[in-house]
Amino acid sequence: MGRDVIIACDFASRQATMDFLSNFKEEKPFVKIGMELFYAEGPDIVREIKARGHKIFLDLKLHDIPNTVKKAMAVLSSLDVDICNLHAGGTIAMMEAALEGLTRPDGTRPLLIAVTQLTSTDQTRMEEDLWIREPIDKVVMHYAENAAKAGLDGVVCSPLEASKVHDVCGKNFLTVTPGIRFADGDVGDQVRVTTPAKAKEIGSDYIVVGRPITAAADPVAAYRRCVAEFVD
Ligand code: C5P
Repeated sequence: MGRDVIIACDFASRQATMDFLSNFKEEKPFVKIGMELFYAEGPDIVREIKARGHKIFLDLKLHDIPNTVKKAMAVLSSLDVDICNLHAGGTIAMMEAALEGLTRPDGTRPLLIAVTQLTSTDQTRMEEDLWIREPIDKVVMHYAENAAKAGLDGVVCSPLEASKVHDVCGKNFLTVTPGIRFADGDVGDQVRVTTPAKAKEIGSDYIVVGRPITAAADPVAAYRRCVAEFVD
């Protein structure tokens, strides 16, 4: 898969999601389904969106003992999603088990990417709550390397980290990057933001865009603007 724009469908219900997606008549955007929508509507929401022709990044961030993650990934794989994720903090053994679970009998599988440190975790919280005393940038790169060692396809990271991740883990290791805002748009609660054009320049493989598209007066126009800046 080449560079693409993934819309974060952070809606609380099936109805709100379908109302939003029905704006798109000509294109079938890649969509991200997170915990809120998945827990509210269950796996049927994934099947329904897939049946409408969208690619799906199922953002459930698994983190448990390897055997449990392996079995859960097998279930997600049968939903025919395109990208799944987990926490790299679950260890290399957990990531390897996840890959095993995700691989279908015919050898195909969704892409699997890792969350390194959440952007809500800063240096202080990492040191005081988690007792991890290394600089956070080093921790993020170490977790990315662990994900690569386990055979994963990439990481979720800030676009600002994308080129470093590629340097450390290889240019084919995917960087999926939220924190995207238009140059003239609202930043909202995101702190370190980048435009789609800048994310392309730095080397992101996929940008994840939520409110700049979902809350736009014209979501299709906002989506097309992202595609024009990032993909074309
Ligand atoms: O609305 P907005 O563009 O900020 O949405 C970004 C999406 O990416 C949300 O679903 C958010 O949870 C997710 N995300 C993020 N930062 C991370 C990881 C995920 O914003 N580090």
